[in-house]
Amino acid sequence: MIIIRAKDYQDMSRKAANIIFAQITMKPDSVLGLATGSSPVGTYNQLIEYYQNGDLDFSNITSINLDEYQGLAPDNEQSYRYFMDTHLFHQVNIDKARTFVPDGLEADTEKACRDYDQIISHEGGIDLQLLGLGRNGHIGFNEPGEAFEKGTHCVPLTESTIEANKRFFASEADVPRHAYTMGIQSIMQAKKILVIVSGADKAEALKEMVQGSITPKIPASILQLHHDVTVVADEAAMSKMAE
Ligand code: F6R
Repeated sequence: MIIIRAKDYQDMSRKAANIIFAQITMKPDSVLGLATGSSPVGTYNQLIEYYQNGDLDFSNITSINLDEYQGLAPDNEQSYRYFMDTHLFHQVNIDKARTFVPDGLEADTEKACRDYDQIISHEGGIDLQLLGLGRNGHIGFNEPGEAFEKGTHCVPLTESTIEANKRFFASEADVPRHAYTMGIQSIMQAKKILVIVSGADKAEALKEMVQGSITPKIPASILQLHHDVTVVADEAAMSKMAE
């Protein structure tokens, strides 16, 4: 695991965007695994700036997002599809037909999961997976549990995640209780993984991810077993790491 220390959120975002920039430059038809949430917004903004300056071309990129709330339509402002459209896809020259997000409206849960796994394998797997880190150590919506889940699955969200995400909804009652998420196996099969972590509220989770034991109670801890993980974390997030 390579750990890159960033000064603050902005510095983290720039450093992470530069890694994605390098990936796209080296392999213009990369399959990017993407995340939503607060962590990647700055990274996406930086990538948009590179695109606007003419330095980055998304025309041959495929993207496969980590997760989606169950029951939310793509045009629901809280859906992850809407988030990606707004924060990245509509601002760069990516082919919209090559952007994948789990289908939150598929009534057949098992079919939704199966279809998504088929998309991942049909696209040949993920070249670079971008991850944020949950305060409880989750990645995607792989919440702390008794086992590492393999493929795409539908999960009940934990109280801590509902609490963390309610800021995006009118009230806590509006936060969906289930989400589709790529499984740990799909994430671990990505050729490269880039984790971005910012803020003191992530310090404990980051310490456990990097220096704790490997346990499904901290899903991100499994990343210690991946051969090509880069973590870009700011000083606040790194404040609990042992030297
Ligand atoms: C989002 C996702 C989540 C977030 C995590 C951190 O697609 O998969 O695992 O990365 O909850 O969220 P933020 O970045 O909002 O702190």
